[in-house]
Amino acid sequence: MRPFVAVISLALISSSLICVSAQRKRPASTKQAAVKTSDADQLARRRADALLAQMTLNEKLGQLNQLFFFSFQKEESMNDGIRKGEIGSLLFVTDPATINRFQKIAATESRLKIPLIFGFDVIHGFHTIFPVPIAMAASWDPRMVAGAQTIAAREARAVGINWTFAPMVDIARDPRWGRIVEGAGEDPYLGAAMSRAQVRGFQGDHIGSTEHLLACVKHFAGYGTAEGGRDYDAANISDAQLWNVYLPPFKAAVDAGVGSVMSAYMDLNDVPATGNRWLLRDVLRRDWKFSGFVVSDANAVSDLKTHGFARDGHDAAVKALTAGVNMEMSFNAATYLKNLGNALKQNQISIKDIDDMVRPLLETKIKLGLFENPYVDEAKVKSTFDNPAHREAAKNAAERSAVLLKNQTNLLPLSKTAYKKIAVIGPLGDSRQNMLGSWSFAMDINETSTILAGLKTKLGSGTEVEFAPGVQISRIVPSIFDMTLKEKHPPAWTEGHAADEFKKAVALAKDSDIAVMVLGENQDMSGEQASRPTIDLPGRQLELLQAVRATGKPVVLVLINGRPLDITWAAENVPSILEAWYPGSAAGNAVADLLFGDAVPGGKLPFTWIKNAGQVPFYYSHNLTQNPGEQEKRYWNGNAVPLYRFGYGLSYTTFAFSNLKVSQPEIKIGETVEVSVDVKNTGPRAGDEVVQLYIHQQAGGASRPIRELKGFERVTLAAGETKTVRLKLGPNELRYWNAAARGWVQDAENFDVWVGGDSSASLHSTFRVMK
Ligand code: NOJ
Repeated sequence: MRPFVAVISLALISSSLICVSAQRKRPASTKQAAVKTSDADQLARRRADALLAQMTLNEKLGQLNQLFFFSFQKEESMNDGIRKGEIGSLLFVTDPATINRFQKIAATESRLKIPLIFGFDVIHGFHTIFPVPIAMAASWDPRMVAGAQTIAAREARAVGINWTFAPMVDIARDPRWGRIVEGAGEDPYLGAAMSRAQVRGFQGDHIGSTEHLLACVKHFAGYGTAEGGRDYDAANISDAQLWNVYLPPFKAAVDAGVGSVMSAYMDLNDVPATGNRWLLRDVLRRDWKFSGFVVSDANAVSDLKTHGFARDGHDAAVKALTAGVNMEMSFNAATYLKNLGNALKQNQISIKDIDDMVRPLLETKIKLGLFENPYVDEAKVKSTFDNPAHREAAKNAAERSAVLLKNQTNLLPLSKTAYKKIAVIGPLGDSRQNMLGSWSFAMDINETSTILAGLKTKLGSGTEVEFAPGVQISRIVPSIFDMTLKEKHPPAWTEGHAADEFKKAVALAKDSDIAVMVLGENQDMSGEQASRPTIDLPGRQLELLQAVRATGKPVVLVLINGRPLDITWAAENVPSILEAWYPGSAAGNAVADLLFGDAVPGGKLPFTWIKNAGQVPFYYSHNLTQNPGEQEKRYWNGNAVPLYRFGYGLSYTTFAFSNLKVSQPEIKIGETVEVSVDVKNTGPRAGDEVVQLYIHQQAGGASRPIRELKGFERVTLAAGETKTVRLKLGPNELRYWNAAARGWVQDAENFDVWVGGDSSASLHSTFRVMK
């Protein structure tokens, strides 16, 4: 049983919590911060060692033990373990009073008074819900993303949470996998940028920054390649792919100072990630110099037995510890606590092995200031939550994440005066819960605007806005997270009722001047344990879309989803399509502003939008092969092209690129060239363009992808304005992992450069790298 079964009572998580508006103190300069940090590191090390010297074996193992606590559980069930020092961390406690009560036992009644660290999945907001991570990646705006996670951290910190299990940086090239919604999509360069931004946002300048959290990059590593897209299935990844594609976002997080790493559930090339010494010791600690701690995914230590990798719990504990997992997250398995004492007696591990695992945990607690400030000020929670700037930031994030996929005849932006009656049609048109996306637990659902409500608020009484759901959508296998939903799924319609609702929706369209169709997937159709073998619009949504389109009324399709869906028919037959993702708390207000042009879409796809699941895997940075000219004819039915390219997205204005310059025609290995380009807003209104730089290495020690993203910048341009954007290509961008050489290489070769607004950019230049 996965611990998520217990997620359950998240429904009970108080949404009327509390909140604060504390000030962030920034060190005067980065250099100063670095000096401070290293002093802090040394101090933390000394204090941790002093503590270790006093700890019993049981107390040490207690620090490695993290347990779930749900609000339906009795606090007494934890108190004794905390008092005895047998629990080092709790996750899923979100009520500040409960946090303070538990902490008081740890900080005053346990022998060594070591505080607990409280963890939670703060993935895209806490009280204020931001767009899901895949959406935020579509903003191509790391600064906005860092800002969003800063707010998420502030709200979570306000209730006493110290640690988030984010960012999730798994590269995903198979949208059947439900968790594609939690990451940044298919590309390692964009993924690394989003990874850095999130670590910065969550942690602030250093571990222990006021109003920030400890970040935890996950799931190390390769989880996004689950076979068949089936969650938790094995990952088989070649050496070259692992280093060039799947590891870079993790490395970026480590370089950005991430304090913790979560080991993944699945087998990576037959060795479970949680028992994978090569990953956790050789790569993470030896090569990358990671000095924080590793936590297992939930129950992943005891699951080493389930995988057929460990003989029993004892063997699982030894294998995970020696592989390099510091802390075991479990529902109640506590495999470390129960078994490592015996393993020590049998000399399978040494006390040094245990100390080495405990030390970074103590150091982290020290750096977070938990010994000095173990408690949270319950009185301040409400004011933190009530900060209007948080709501405004969520709306801005939703607007910057939206991607305009199609806008034939410039139907969008809609005129505020042209329509007397607007029909909002579709199962997601008036839903609050389904605007939020997975891992939204602690919000106040009443603060979420639906698309219907957003349009009504925007248009006021002068325009009639009416709603008809038309169809219902639901999973066949229920979701483990459904018990946490604040707005439950309505009871299923009878056949007769369903037929009536369908007719009503079509009649409403006929009776209106325009139909805004809101289609896609419910929140529980995307996320953990939300994989599917097809990507069609669930239920009768396509039929509904076709029937509404057949009325002859103009139709705008707004998509709510976390993966590419098969919208081939819509792409051919519906004039305008706006990808809104799961936009978060501000969904309705943001979508209304986008539809009526008070916000201009500028997001770009963070994945290749395939036509159907049969094309999987399909990513833009594939290798050339022996007949690249025929690439599009690979399937005899002509289906070897995606619906929309990676990096694609329209605006309400247009852009032109010119004057591409590469600073030098030739550089030496290790040197850097600058690529500059002029981008002009050639349309009638202000808007954003994402300048994207792609390269191709023409020959060398390995076949290199046809194109690889190696730089980008999102710019805002007034109508008629031109900006020059400069991007750099240095050794980090030009090297690659060569599987034959088993190492990073930079070849002396010719390179193509393209710059433009998506991955089919045509403005081209070249340069040469010399020995
Ligand atoms: C399991 C998920 O895989 C992981 O992402 C999450 O952080 C933990 N459970 C804790 O909820």
